[in-house]
Amino acid sequence: MDVRERVPSRPAIITVMAAATSLSSVYPLGSRVNERGRLEVGGCDTIELAHEFGTPAYVVAEDDLRARARAFVAAGHDAGQGDFHVVFASKAFPCTAVLALFAQEGLWCDVASGGELHLALRAGFAPARIVLHGNAKSEEELRMALRHRIGAIVIDNFDEIDRLERLLAEDAPDVPGAAVAGDGGNPTGRDRDAAGRDGEAAGRDGGQPVLVRVTPDVRGQTHEKISTGQADSKFGFAMADAPDAIARVRSVPGLSLQGLHAHIGSQLLELEPFRREVAGLATLGPFPMWDLGGGLGVLYTDGQSQPPAIEEYVATLVHAAHAHGMGIDGRLLIEPGRALTANACVTLYTVQSVKQNVSRWVAVDGGMSDNLRPMLYGAAYEAHVADRLHGSTPCVLAGKHCESGDVIVRQAVLDDPRPGDVIVTPATGAYGYAMANNYNGVPRPPVIFCKDGDARLVVRRESFEDLTGRDVA
Ligand code: LLP
Repeated sequence: MDVRERVPSRPAIITVMAAATSLSSVYPLGSRVNERGRLEVGGCDTIELAHEFGTPAYVVAEDDLRARARAFVAAGHDAGQGDFHVVFASKAFPCTAVLALFAQEGLWCDVASGGELHLALRAGFAPARIVLHGNAKSEEELRMALRHRIGAIVIDNFDEIDRLERLLAEDAPDVPGAAVAGDGGNPTGRDRDAAGRDGEAAGRDGGQPVLVRVTPDVRGQTHEKISTGQADSKFGFAMADAPDAIARVRSVPGLSLQGLHAHIGSQLLELEPFRREVAGLATLGPFPMWDLGGGLGVLYTDGQSQPPAIEEYVATLVHAAHAHGMGIDGRLLIEPGRALTANACVTLYTVQSVKQNVSRWVAVDGGMSDNLRPMLYGAAYEAHVADRLHGSTPCVLAGKHCESGDVIVRQAVLDDPRPGDVIVTPATGAYGYAMANNYNGVPRPPVIFCKDGDARLVVRRESFEDLTGRDVA
């Protein structure tokens, strides 16, 4: 059943849906335990999915992605911001099917490299709805952005201003917005009209629209590896340098300064740092456009402290912006990644071995090649046996990789797991697929979209041939 038929579209659609299941609320919207006692995601029986597509596998509830996209968009408008755009941080789940779904939902797209720009264009995002980030953009990446005349290049440092000035002087880019063979293009041509309108609004004086990224010296509570707003950050201009950066950008012919950008960090569970971010930005002057970044945290385990609801987070940003005169007659962008995708996806594994020494070790067929987050950030996840969800056996859920750090869930509680059981870890939709790798020659998992009981493969599993596919000698 379509989730939207079951719940009012707002407010707090997400909370309502999660509560409607008997499962941990970290599962995708609409998940349930079916009559056979098995976990169902997007109406599909996860044990059957494991048999049909193999494991490990990323299973995505399509309706969940759409519901969250709609909740973000509606929240901006409900909070009183007319010109409001939700820019999906594609790094969270850079998969064509995910990008295409969000393009269809009318979102914009944040890319952080030429490769992500290529993916976004191929997935159907109009160039005028794409925002390019990066603290070390190459000449090639900047050329690509200029050729496509994307919605905004977010300038990170003085060297980049010099580089853009040189590129613009050297070779005036071709037709604005033209698809260029070899680096993506927009084969579907979707959103062309909208693209034109967006482009006009952004770059009225004909130059390439740009934003200046500043580091507002705001630190939210999160893992230090994903905190970006502090003064000593590798991203963006220091507050003290921002006025010079703004003046310098304004002096470059061909650049059209639209406004400022900031992104203070990721997996933030409190709203206060966002208010401080907005207040900091406001001191740098009026602009027609503000991009407030991403960072809204999500629920990974039932025991974790609750993140703010999407509606609350968006309203906080919009109201803070308006209180400082920002965005009232202009444009506000936000860049959620994790909060759009994390809880829409579960990973399925199969147990390969179970052994008891000091702990009970349950080893599965994936691990740090499909989810690096526990190893990089000490991130906590839940795990369950897909057809016996309420167990009481303390276990360590370990991956198959050749190092002791390859532990997916240190304190799992499972129902007497045995070899052959299908294990599910929820909330793996953000930065799992994105950071997947081939450590130990393990092929990367497929992505399966599920909706109303239909499962469709959108990314196939890598093969052993793929592992040697780039060899030239
Ligand atoms: N905008 C910018 C400029 C960003 O750098 C990021 C994330 C986002 C938006 C989206 O942030 P989100 O809404 O997803 O928190 N690999 C790490 C996360 C790195 C985030 C990098 N930047 C992890 O797995 O937690």
